[in-house]
Amino acid sequence: MSHVVTQPCCADASCVFACPVNAIHPTPDEPDFATADMVYIDPKSCVDCGACVGACPVGAIKPDAKLAEHELPFIELNRLFHEDRSTPPIQAPVTPVVAKRDAAAPMRVAVVGSGPAGLYAADEILKRPGTEVTVIERLPTPYGLVRAGVAPDHPETRTIDRLFRMIEGERGFSYALGVEVGTDITHAELTAGFDAVVYAVGAASDRSLGIPGEELPGSVTATDFVAWYNGHPDHVDDVFDLDHERAVIVGNGNVALDVARILASDPERLARTDIADHALEALRRSRVREVVVLARRGPAQSAFTLPEITGLLERDDIEVVIDGDLDVIAGSLMEQQKVEALRRAAPRPAARRIVLRYQSAPVEMLGADAVTGVRVARTRLVAEGDTVRAVATDRIEDLETGVVLRSVGYRGRPVPDLPFDDVRAIVPHDRGRVVGLPGTYVVGWIKRGPTGFIGTNKTCATETIDRLFEDANAGVLAPPTARGLPDEITRSAIDLEGWRLIDRWERRQGLAAGRVRVRLSDRDEMRRVAISPVVPDPARRRRRVILGA
Ligand SMILES: Cc1cc2nc3c(=O)[nH]c(=O)nc-3n(C[C@H](O)[C@H](O)[C@H](O)COP(=O)(O)OP(=O)(O)OC[C@H]3O[C@@H](n4cnc5c(N)ncnc54)[C@H](O)[C@@H]3O)c2cc1C
Ligand SMILES: NC(=O)c1ccc[n+]([C@@H]2O[C@H](COP(=O)([O-])OP(=O)(O)OC[C@H]3O[C@@H](n4cnc5c(N)ncnc54)[C@H](OP(=O)(O)O)[C@@H]3O)[C@@H](O)[C@H]2O)c1
Ligand code: SF4
Ligand code: SF4
Repeated sequence: MSHVVTQPCCADASCVFACPVNAIHPTPDEPDFATADMVYIDPKSCVDCGACVGACPVGAIKPDAKLAEHELPFIELNRLFHEDRSTPPIQAPVTPVVAKRDAAAPMRVAVVGSGPAGLYAADEILKRPGTEVTVIERLPTPYGLVRAGVAPDHPETRTIDRLFRMIEGERGFSYALGVEVGTDITHAELTAGFDAVVYAVGAASDRSLGIPGEELPGSVTATDFVAWYNGHPDHVDDVFDLDHERAVIVGNGNVALDVARILASDPERLARTDIADHALEALRRSRVREVVVLARRGPAQSAFTLPEITGLLERDDIEVVIDGDLDVIAGSLMEQQKVEALRRAAPRPAARRIVLRYQSAPVEMLGADAVTGVRVARTRLVAEGDTVRAVATDRIEDLETGVVLRSVGYRGRPVPDLPFDDVRAIVPHDRGRVVGLPGTYVVGWIKRGPTGFIGTNKTCATETIDRLFEDANAGVLAPPTARGLPDEITRSAIDLEGWRLIDRWERRQGLAAGRVRVRLSDRDEMRRVAISPVVPDPARRRRRVILGA
């Protein structure tokens, strides 16, 4: 008997610190933590105490005896990770907390952005006594990509919002939602009102392929498509032409797999999720039956992670076809495991299929007024040190399609009044301190670039906030000249209570419709719900009656 880590793991390492026998690896101080797809429990060390189960914010850990059929492959994945690993029998490391020395006046910090990085940063700050945090967010709702990125058919991953609700409930926490820094308020106004400013604005843009025809109608970005199906207010009016038998996705990272799954899923299965209503209707009308996922390199170099491909291969409603050479060189253990997972994929005919096509680099989008196909060059793989590069050959093929989704990575946008490294598309920093701007910090994707899981932002936030408190202790932070946000901003913003009203409204509508939630995506409607009079929760009223209140 052992406990097992399963698919929704987002690598925040909370379980690592809960385990009394150091059975969960890699830990944040081990070199492979940065590149690991998830953490794994060593079945030989696990004493089945269950302490990790409650520590996991997304319910990813289960006793092996309680795994559902589709989770059984994770027993082997956890075991294999530890097979050749020698781990010293020490306790998991505890990250030192850098305390603020002068606690006479409250220290006010503005956090810009309410995605995982912003909320983990707020949590790290509020752990230290005498602190207050205002999280400023341009959208009327918080949680960044957890709301607008994570796929609707991954509801377990979204349960991370339980942790976010706990952070919101901490003393000293406040929200200013619907406020865009750089448009509604300047960086100078923030530095005047707060001891420090932490930017957690993510990477909202996308990389481009730089090939002819990329901008033709019908060639769209996965970034836009994901935001559309998740009801992001900026994308409610987007229209995607799904009137084609075949869709092609460029890139094979986890975002590409999300998009492929959504396009290939039976819409009635999606109808139970919190997918945006406009997207559900469009997917019901969609004629797409085949989704081709193009990777320029080979199966071993697939950018998707092992838990995600394992989850897809377990789906019985989608046929997955591998079009690639599974005998090409596989290097690391992770690469070998990906190849093995693909090798085990059993043919399973279904109404819709995903084709994982390898060694295929797009060189041109075809068509005059709109995309009619993708021209692809077959590649050969060249090993260069630790990496493998794809080199285009003269074998050219045309793939007919009217819809191409480019999923080749997100890209950070410049933040007004902050320096910007245009090559890496991040704000230049030293372990979270923005270069040349004392008292200003970065965290999350705008600090590291667009890679990593939800939980990766936790260790990232710890690093940045430790620097912030080192600076506070060293007297580097200039004292604020005003108190928090200007009044007119506070008056127009949606606060924590407003967000709770939106959240409750969405869940109630969901309950009535047999869904997780029904999403609001119109800004005006969200504002209307956020100021609506409080409707008493019937369950709470019943409790009061029982207690005689
Ligand atoms: C499509 C997709 C699916 C994903 N699915 C998973 C998954 O299933 N599991 C997993 O572990 N990881 C997943 N990830 C990765 C995870 O979502 C990221 O690691 C994480 O969201 C990055 O956090 P962040 O806070 O840096 O950025 P974000 O989550 O993007 O948050 C940034 C926030 O800042 C706000 N903002 C931007 N500019 C301003 C401004 N000027 N003023 C005020 N607010 C501003 C934005 O509106 C946003 O809310 C996914 C990523 C993507 C792209
Ligand atoms: N469920 C989850 O845990 C989950 C879900 C979604 C996202 N995420 C995380 O979010 C992060 C971002 O994911 P992502 O999928 O956007 O990015 P990603 O993992 O970096 O994948 C990008 C893909 O684009 C390809 N690519 C880049 N440039 C290209 C070009 N010029 N031509 C052809 N292909 C090109 C890459 O191929 P090469 O490898 O050959 O460069 C790769 O396949 C990742 O860390 C991911 O794990 C996690
Ligand atoms: S069940 Fe207990 S011993 Fe096993 S991994 Fe979890 S915390 Fe560690
Ligand atoms: S999500 Fe965090 S707590 Fe849960 S299994 Fe993964 S690393 Fe552990």
